Amino acid sequence: MTAVPTLHLADGTSIPQLGFGTWQVPDADATPAVLEALEAGYRHIDTAQVYRNEAGVGRALARSGLRRDEVYVTTKLWNDSHSPDDARAAIEGSLEKLGLDHLDLYLIHWPATLKYGDAYIEAWDALQEFKAEGLTRSIGVSNFHSVHLDALRGEVPVVNQVEVHPTFAQRPLRAELDRRGIEVESWSPLGSGADLGHADIEAVAVSVGKSVAQVIIRWHLQHGLVVLPKSVTPQRIAENLDVLDFELDADDMARLDALDAGNRVGPDPETADF
Ligand code: A2P
Repeated sequence: MTAVPTLHLADGTSIPQLGFGTWQVPDADATPAVLEALEAGYRHIDTAQVYRNEAGVGRALARSGLRRDEVYVTTKLWNDSHSPDDARAAIEGSLEKLGLDHLDLYLIHWPATLKYGDAYIEAWDALQEFKAEGLTRSIGVSNFHSVHLDALRGEVPVVNQVEVHPTFAQRPLRAELDRRGIEVESWSPLGSGADLGHADIEAVAVSVGKSVAQVIIRWHLQHGLVVLPKSVTPQRIAENLDVLDFELDADDMARLDALDAGNRVGPDPETADF
């Protein structure tokens, strides 16, 4: 199997460009799903404190028999834990549940300004300490807009994980992050399934002899995005990784780019009240 490409991050580390998303995977299902993914060849697992499945992910990592340095693991700090003491308890709790002594990437999950004001700024200070202490190799953010990035002190986040899929392409934010040297990770890369029924993507899929999901995942990879598809279905888990032996040509990419319709499927960071 062709290796998953890696992207170089601004802090000198690198990240596998295709990872396994675990949002909405219950803890009990996370172990078989992540084991299936690791057996299929995924080497990048994305979870979060609030997904309540870190223990299930940890069991799969342990059972896989893979060495720590063979798997890239991301988790995220929840909104109610932005104060430095709470953030420290949170990363320690996440590490314990995952059964790890360090993360590869730790993210602030949301700026959460409506509920917690500017607390995310202090959280960013704390994440820089955690990195200096070796609790995580890299630090970044999720669901941040320019105004939130501007407010941070010290290091620049190496990634921003945001909702991106063909019908919600986030072009202005992606261009802005590119200017800042911040890599983009796509959550809900299939639009939580919403983009899978799109007739134009189906037409491209038929023309290249791949599935709609595979075409969408290629679109992310060819745009230089880190893509984190989620599935609990073994056949789909394998299918979503089997995207390294074909390329979309410029016409196919343009056809997918033309589908951008502001079709947000998840919460908007500006109005999120949790
Ligand atoms: P399931 O987990 O039941 O297999 P996203 O990654 O954008 O959040 O999308 C996840 C949704 O898309 C889930 O409902 C998942 O279903 C479904 N899904 C993931 N991969 C595929 C695929 N290859 N074909 C069809 N549906 C898929």
